[in-house]
Amino acid sequence: MTLPATHPLLDGRTAASALVTTYRGVRGDRTPVWFMRQAGRSLPEYRELRVGTRMLDACLDPAMASEITLQPVRRHGVDAGIFFSDIVIPLKLAGVDVEIEPGRGPVLAKPVRTLADVSALPDPDGADFTAIEQGVALTVAALGSTPLIGFAGAPFTLAAYLVEGGPSKDHIRARTLMHADPEAWEGLLSWAAAVTGRFLRAQLLAGASAAQLFDSWVGSLSKADYVERVAPFSKKALEPIRDLDVPVVHFGVGSGEVLAPMHEVGADVVGVDWRLPLDEASRRLGGGVTLQGNVDPALLAAPWPVLEAHVLDVLRRGRSAPAHVLNLGHGVPPETDPDVLTRIVELVHERGGAAAEE
Ligand code: CP3
Repeated sequence: MTLPATHPLLDGRTAASALVTTYRGVRGDRTPVWFMRQAGRSLPEYRELRVGTRMLDACLDPAMASEITLQPVRRHGVDAGIFFSDIVIPLKLAGVDVEIEPGRGPVLAKPVRTLADVSALPDPDGADFTAIEQGVALTVAALGSTPLIGFAGAPFTLAAYLVEGGPSKDHIRARTLMHADPEAWEGLLSWAAAVTGRFLRAQLLAGASAAQLFDSWVGSLSKADYVERVAPFSKKALEPIRDLDVPVVHFGVGSGEVLAPMHEVGADVVGVDWRLPLDEASRRLGGGVTLQGNVDPALLAAPWPVLEAHVLDVLRRGRSAPAHVLNLGHGVPPETDPDVLTRIVELVHERGGAAAEE
């Protein structure tokens, strides 16, 4: 399938945007800024809209998902929307029995722990992404020249939920499985890669201008396990979108030891968590990779002068990379005062970018 004639990548609506040009490695007059989890509980308008609707139902209602995606763009003036959905949505659409428990996260009716469990997973080609495509199309039409980022969970992070059956601190069952039963592990990661690839492609064909692959729980892996037993499947997840030539961001938490292999799976941009200063991240990547990050979410609740100094330090360190998109080092905490986020956007637009380099 090719891009529809009205796709922003073909009609150029977002091609000159600060986000897309920066993701392509060109440092412009403005450092673009958006926040992981910018949509959601930090916004009163989100909490109001969500009353009486379960998380996954909200994601699968195209009008609601689109409205929630637009809320932080309107309020904060960020340089991108990120489509409101969840990494478990493609699992659900493929037929896996999964729910999101408020305050806890994704929970599965039946964890996947053996080769037989893996063989019993539904056919990834059976997933119907119509609701996602409609939600993306509505959002892209409303955003105009502001780009929309599509996203998906990387195979390891999805597998961590599938094997554990829910959130976990150390993902020990998943890490055991990769060694105890390599055949089941490879089958599971291949399955997750197929589902993720289809979810990404659906969002991009419907009009998203960039993609972010979240390998949120990659920090629980050794480097050897990441390189040998995980990275090949992340690469496979990106294959279905290779021909679309959209910029791809790859983000993980606690990823300091695996930044280079995360880049090598086929990412254009590496998202860095709050632990590693951006100049050090850039050094570990050989100096030639565009970075995204990495304001510490904990500082959002600190007094403004403390946060301001930290944001300026992040901008300064980001100059050691060819180009930099400012973001948090992980998602917006739900208790965050949204006015603080708006203030960061103003600060970054004022003080970031090529013009401020002297
Ligand atoms: O604004 C955005 O960033 C887009 C929306 C988005 C959500 N989930 C909405 C959501 C994105 C990009 C995700 C991805 C996601 N989901 C990840 C990867 C990113 C990361 O944070 O590391 C992961 C690991 C998940 C799994 C998941 N879903 C968790 C851990 C939770 C939080 C549980 C809780 O209640 O604290 C969810 C639920 C979820 N996904 C919420 C939102 C807004 C909260 C549900 C609600 O508002 O009722």
